[in-house]
Amino acid sequence: MERVRDEGIKELERYRDLPDVTAGSLEAAVQYVLEKIDNNLAVFAAKFPAPCSRNNIYPAIDNIEWTSSFWTGMLWLAYEITGRECYRQTAEAQLASYAKRINDKTATDTHDLGFLYSLSCVAAYKLTGNELAKQTALKAANLLINRYFEKARIIQAWGNLNDPNQRGRMIIDCCMNLPLLYWASIMTGDARYFNIAFNHARQAATYLIREDASTYHTFYMNVDTGEPLYGKTAQGYADNSCWARGQAWAIYGFPLSYIYAHDPELIAINKKLCNYFLNRLPQDEICYWDLIFTGGPEERDSSAAAIAVCGLLETAKRLPLSDPYRRIYENAALKILKSLIENYTTKNVPESNGLLVHGVYSKPGNLGVDECCIWGDYFYFEALVRVLKHWRLYW
Ligand code: GLY
Repeated sequence: MERVRDEGIKELERYRDLPDVTAGSLEAAVQYVLEKIDNNLAVFAAKFPAPCSRNNIYPAIDNIEWTSSFWTGMLWLAYEITGRECYRQTAEAQLASYAKRINDKTATDTHDLGFLYSLSCVAAYKLTGNELAKQTALKAANLLINRYFEKARIIQAWGNLNDPNQRGRMIIDCCMNLPLLYWASIMTGDARYFNIAFNHARQAATYLIREDASTYHTFYMNVDTGEPLYGKTAQGYADNSCWARGQAWAIYGFPLSYIYAHDPELIAINKKLCNYFLNRLPQDEICYWDLIFTGGPEERDSSAAAIAVCGLLETAKRLPLSDPYRRIYENAALKILKSLIENYTTKNVPESNGLLVHGVYSKPGNLGVDECCIWGDYFYFEALVRVLKHWRLYW
């Protein structure tokens, strides 16, 4: 991975010191999250929040989107941090809908089976030993590996495998879907899941990461020959710009593969991705929706910021104590988190049923622009839990 340049951190002094985030402010932030969850508990018991809000309010929908599990995952985090049964019971009651979805193959033509089943069923199994959850997550892993192309060594992201517009297309987000497969290998003793996940992670590092340590959102492979074709954006500003959330998915996703595969190149390259990301943050530390923007009136993406906090913290954990970047990434993560707590929650939007304002789902698609995004809420909560307790990952 020598081909990828490292910019280092351009304004090192910005992240040299531990930011002033008190335990009290973190606990108050968690209390706010719990209040929101409590208010949503009845509405989102049999239903799920839509991926993004409308006027800062999530509509309630069935379990049909790639995002259902972010809500269920928040319930598991709430259960872990409080021990309150109401959260566990609601999360457990939702497991049947995940089982039905996988059995009926409802909207399962997607690599996002990883997101969907890690935060719902794998989390349930890890926290409570629930056997239905384990079997359901294994079924999801089996569907996910059907999307793998042997020659190209990638998992196709979207759509039917014969769809000419999607065939052989991998996307950076998929790094977050791979832990389901690593987990399935551990559960079954079958190395196939691991090999598919790891091969995909390596191909993602090779083709989705550009030489300047930015990322393409998507990249096409010729699945018949295994040849790399070309990068293209879907949710970013341009094919050659860097979609902020894509970079954030990478920053969190590669260390997740490292946890299971112990490939030091994945952490080495991830430092370059983290540096690229941090070098493009505006003064309040919350990225614009595409990193081509570093100032001006374009929208921020608070959801990308929340994902990046978790990714920076996970990356820091995987670096040796002697690595100066370990402290820098921890400080940067806390600085971003502090800004989210202080300036990006729905505190001033009391009618909202979400947590973070100013997220962007898809600017080119004119979808969820400057709205709450349910994954932003989940990763904001995960980030808070990570800094307040020793947290065992659901991923
Ligand atoms: N994984 C889809 C998104 O981040 O919008």
